Amino acid sequence: MAAMGAGIIDRYAAYLPVTAATPRVTLGEGSTPLIRSSRIGPSLGIEQLYFKYEGLNPSGSFKDRGMAVATAKALEAKARTLLCASTGNTSASAAAYAARCGLRAVVVVPAGGVAAGKLAQALAYGASILVVNGSFDVALRLVRQLAGEPGVALVNSVNPFRIEGQKTAAFEIVEQLGDAPARLFIPVGNGGNITAYWRGFTELQRRDGRSRPVMYGAQAEGAAPLVRGKPVPRPRTIASAIRIGNPASWNSAIAAKDESGGTIATVTDAEIMAAHRRLSREEGLLVEPASAAGVALLIKMASAGRLSDGGSIVCVLTGHGLKDPQALTRGLRLPRPVRPTLSTLMRAIG
Ligand code: F0G
Repeated sequence: MAAMGAGIIDRYAAYLPVTAATPRVTLGEGSTPLIRSSRIGPSLGIEQLYFKYEGLNPSGSFKDRGMAVATAKALEAKARTLLCASTGNTSASAAAYAARCGLRAVVVVPAGGVAAGKLAQALAYGASILVVNGSFDVALRLVRQLAGEPGVALVNSVNPFRIEGQKTAAFEIVEQLGDAPARLFIPVGNGGNITAYWRGFTELQRRDGRSRPVMYGAQAEGAAPLVRGKPVPRPRTIASAIRIGNPASWNSAIAAKDESGGTIATVTDAEIMAAHRRLSREEGLLVEPASAAGVALLIKMASAGRLSDGGSIVCVLTGHGLKDPQALTRGLRLPRPVRPTLSTLMRAIG
């Protein structure tokens, strides 16, 4: 197996649907750190709490793992265009990998539904951007109609190669911890990533007889179709990445929850933003709001005494904080310039 630092196709080729003929597409995705909690865990009485910091992938989110494999398979199939609907991160990732390989990226995004940094990324990487008046769910329904078009590869997580690439995060966690965690907390939008982690842990169980974690999926209260048991026509949440009312990977997300004996539960926007703030102020970890949803659920459950029996816990931090600068400065005021004198500095030090 190739070393940490190589791309995920090179590192995990034996466990991915690739052959020697599949191009080794990579931007150096994967190999993200598993960081032990320094303050949140201890404050909750959780000894072994870790964060898988997926925001450190090349385009700033976990999507890059799946996009590396999906792009490689698209090249293998002689596609010229990567197509996706997105709440932002998939579009940034598709645009980056398309640029890397000389492909076109066409990304369809909901008007007013994408954080500024993600739109800026897609633009900078040179994608064609179609902003539609409608939700993510409408955009996804639209692009799925072109899935079979010659020369076009649909790279949403309905593309099986996306899930295959993303399962490598579970492999890395087991390598880094030396074992599977007892519990895994993860935000859930379209349901692809919880599906991918569960597949990764399940494959390791078959391969080496490892245990699998109990899976805890977090949905935003105003966008929680998997918790309600029915689609949400007008999903609402501050966490725009998971503002999704009708997840494409519905059944496999529910299966991950059920087979692991876990749960998919809601957190409010206030709980998400409180967790977001604690991650930056108590851990030094900058994430986008959606990425804090899993941590919000952990804090909620631990505070209610519902996580008593120990074992290691991993929270997946799915996207980088700089993607959504507005969320970072909400309710804060930027300091006004002052005269550069020693006395103003002394006052600042306090
Ligand atoms: N966290 C972030 C930062 C995301 O961007 C997403 C999904 C999720 C969590 C949820 O993952 O959909 O696999 O359940 N973003 C997609 C996108 C929908 O278009 O970027 P999921």
